[in-house]
Amino acid sequence: MLSAPDPENHVYDKPPAHANADWTIDQNWPAYTDEEHATWDTLFARQCKMLPGRAAQAFMDGVDILQLSKAGIPDFDELNRILMDATGWQVVAVPGLVPDDVFFDHLANRRFVSGNFIRKPDQLDYLQEPDIFHDVFGHVPMLADQRFADYMEAYGRGGLRALEFGTLKQLARLYWYTVEFGLIQEAEELRIYGAGIVSSYGESKFALESDSPNRIMFDLERVLRTEYRIDDFQQNYFVIPGLEELLRVTVETDFKPVYEKIADMPDIAIAEIVEGDELLTHGTQDHASAQSGDAVII
Ligand SMILES: [Fe+2]
Repeated sequence: MLSAPDPENHVYDKPPAHANADWTIDQNWPAYTDEEHATWDTLFARQCKMLPGRAAQAFMDGVDILQLSKAGIPDFDELNRILMDATGWQVVAVPGLVPDDVFFDHLANRRFVSGNFIRKPDQLDYLQEPDIFHDVFGHVPMLADQRFADYMEAYGRGGLRALEFGTLKQLARLYWYTVEFGLIQEAEELRIYGAGIVSSYGESKFALESDSPNRIMFDLERVLRTEYRIDDFQQNYFVIPGLEELLRVTVETDFKPVYEKIADMPDIAIAEIVEGDELLTHGTQDHASAQSGDAVII
């Protein structure tokens, strides 16, 4: 979640020989095959047909601003020229899992790390590791929005602090329930802005339309205490009233006393409803109940 793994799940303890000291590598755009570009185009067309009216306006605007409708996998050099102009962010390729401090340092300096591989044509619907479609289509349009761009930088700085405090587990939940799986109130309805949803055909519908998950108004302390699952559609979605509010809460809150306060409180189990929750949907959890096997919970 916090890093960009490659398909073989390479884990390095120092930058590999072909990487720079900050772990970045060349995207090597000319190496993509026609089949890989075609996979991007298939995924892009499918999501773009479904997302109008479902995705947040900021996401749809980002797709336009960044000219993502151009055929084929985006070339980071071209993409970055537009993104830098819009919000001062850039996308950088990395060779696999990068250490947390490297990941946060990139975010704090307005660099979003992305894998450069794309899923195989038989993996359109399910992929455990984030590929370039997830990382670029899912994440980068929101980075063209100034409010979200500032939020992500603040998150990176917060990540470096969380490493000092030993509270990475708690902070990672904020990323999960906003950057990856966040919902937003907009035009008197719910829309999606989380990258894990907008890049998934199935979850784009499920997150908004299913009776199964809980939909709960965002509360920072509550989110920092809430476990999440990484192996299926989410059982909770947290809803922000707007991007300004998300940025405001993140920038204005001193997280250290919050971490100290919640250190003595129990984690909140997935799907558990607690006192103080502002529930928009009390989910049936039918989808989760129908799945066999144990959930993979973090
Ligand atoms: Fe992601």
